[in-house]
Amino acid sequence: MPTDHARDQFLDFLRFGSISTDSKYQEQIEACSEWLKGKLTNIGLTAEIHQTPGHPIVLARGPKKEGRPTVLIYGHYDVQPVDPLDLWHRPPFNPGIENGIVTARGASDNKGQIFAHILGIEETLKEKGDLPVNLILLIEGEEEIGSPHLAPFLDAHREELACDVVAISDSSMIAPGHPTFTYGLRGLAAVEVTITGPDHDLHSGVFGGAVENPATVLARLIAGLHDKNLKVKLDGFYEEVRPLAPWERRAWKHLPLREPELLKMTGAPALRGEKGFTPLERMWARPTAEVNGIGGGYQGEGTKTVLPSRAMAKFTFRLVPDQDPTKIIAMVEDYFRKNAPSSVRLELKPGHCGEPYLVDPNAGFGMAAQKALKKLFPGQKPALIREGGTIPIVAEFKSILKADTLLLGFCLPDCNAHSPNETFPLAHLDLGAKLNRHLLEEIAAA
Ligand code: BES
Ligand code: MN
Repeated sequence: MPTDHARDQFLDFLRFGSISTDSKYQEQIEACSEWLKGKLTNIGLTAEIHQTPGHPIVLARGPKKEGRPTVLIYGHYDVQPVDPLDLWHRPPFNPGIENGIVTARGASDNKGQIFAHILGIEETLKEKGDLPVNLILLIEGEEEIGSPHLAPFLDAHREELACDVVAISDSSMIAPGHPTFTYGLRGLAAVEVTITGPDHDLHSGVFGGAVENPATVLARLIAGLHDKNLKVKLDGFYEEVRPLAPWERRAWKHLPLREPELLKMTGAPALRGEKGFTPLERMWARPTAEVNGIGGGYQGEGTKTVLPSRAMAKFTFRLVPDQDPTKIIAMVEDYFRKNAPSSVRLELKPGHCGEPYLVDPNAGFGMAAQKALKKLFPGQKPALIREGGTIPIVAEFKSILKADTLLLGFCLPDCNAHSPNETFPLAHLDLGAKLNRHLLEEIAAA
């Protein structure tokens, strides 16, 4: 277990309501970045804050010496919104600990994981006065909104940020106690669609039948996105999808995450998805079309006979190599424009994008990462997995800094990231600190 001091500081970190998407939380975002800078300075790093047109970036460095590799550790201090608030067992920014489990928004995604790295760095510096590698620590405040200002920052600071490899803990372990190395992530393209019919809500008895209902039109359009095998029906959607490698399909069959675990974790009555693929294949290596939010018309108690003026839905498309988010947005626009009837007006608002990522888990510093995991869990073989989530900047670490990323996440698959009652085991602070130490040592030795 972490020391009381480490635990208390972690809880302080969790108390900032650093929700990046909601401008009401701007002050908390700023305060959280200042707090981080203070913490990083305190442990002996050189830390600074870089303002952006959006939320601040916290950047810190360890002692720099010639002849050893430079590792960039990336994390994010921003978090997702907390609603629906009434489903939380405690206020999301008033963390509590029960049976060694911390509950708070951001506990796993990503404050717990990045804080564990900070603790590892702190321990090494305290013991040795140095780190085995040159370290750059980059913690941003816009990951959950697609990192819009981080790529320009990387571009403008290419030289200072030059590194041999990037390490990120912002993903999951396949199961508790099971070392996990993630070598692929899905990408994402977001679109918001608004359908407007009449210029005000109408009496559905008086006008219904003559004026088309925007909610019905939207439902029809959403239904048209999938065929009966649950394949996405956009023209060209699968054209650039890279097929799963035979070794992946074989290896994933033996992972300790199967239908029963997924049913338990999600509470869904059954699993269902694209025909011809297993649940893990669908989550990690196949693209999807998801509705993230939908609205329109009367939502209050009882009945209100209204023909709503508008209906809207928020969509994200999860993408896999080699799909291109910009091309996907164009396909989506095309689909809605072609299929929306002239009885309604259509408004399309593209949102954030992130490219998919895939590397060879055994190339480059991949073996160093696997060795670090073996040291952390002696006698166990790391699971090599992809994951379905997106970390938008990872593709840009490659294209701008020319560095591959090692994804070594250690939150649990049932941590409720993005959901009410997000959790993180306190013991994982130690686990992550140890992982940090092994990883930096193995990279230095590689
Ligand atoms: N940590 C997640 C991404 C993730 C989750 C990776 C699970 C691997 C496994 C990250 O914080 C996240 O949620 N990203 C967003 C990005 C989006 C808003 C652009 C996502 O995936 O929805
Ligand atoms: Mn997240």
